[in-house]
Amino acid sequence: MKKELKVSAIKNGTVIDHIRPGKALDVVRLLNLENYDDSVTVAMGVHSSLHKTKDIVKIENRELSEEEVNEIALIAPESTINIIKDYEVAEKRKIELPDLIKGILTCMNPNCISRKEGSSKFIVEKRDPVILRCYYCERLMEEDEILKRLRI
Ligand code: CTP
Ligand code: ZN
Repeated sequence: MKKELKVSAIKNGTVIDHIRPGKALDVVRLLNLENYDDSVTVAMGVHSSLHKTKDIVKIENRELSEEEVNEIALIAPESTINIIKDYEVAEKRKIELPDLIKGILTCMNPNCISRKEGSSKFIVEKRDPVILRCYYCERLMEEDEILKRLRI
């Protein structure tokens, strides 16, 4: 008897794969999948290679917007987005955190010029965990503040 239970393949939708371990639920919250009316599969701590694990989120019948992909890059960089069509991987895209982040987040400093202009820009100061520096006022934004800003 086979003791291993594999996570099922999906017919159509999106598989977010190679999510940094522990980040799957942040992705679920970010995409508001608790309120999604089709199947969502979450797998955590799946063995991906000998000494590495990963999380996976599979969403049936849903594609992600460019904005959602950019937000995922902030909380789970190095994930892979697979678009599934009729059980096949129709498109695979590795998402990476860019060196510069425009928009998406607002600076925490209420007096920052970017708040008045309504256009933000952050330099990626550190990647794991992510720390951003406002291009205008240099205020740092740490991971917990990023999550709060994304309403996670
Ligand atoms: N997948 C799925 N349903 C399908 C096809 C694929 O859920 N009908 C999932 C796979 O389980 C895997 C991801 O989509 O988690 C990517 O599939 P695939 O490219 O076939 O796997 P790998 O080659 O292992 O991907 P990578 O090279 O990105 O690690
Ligand atoms: Zn600022």
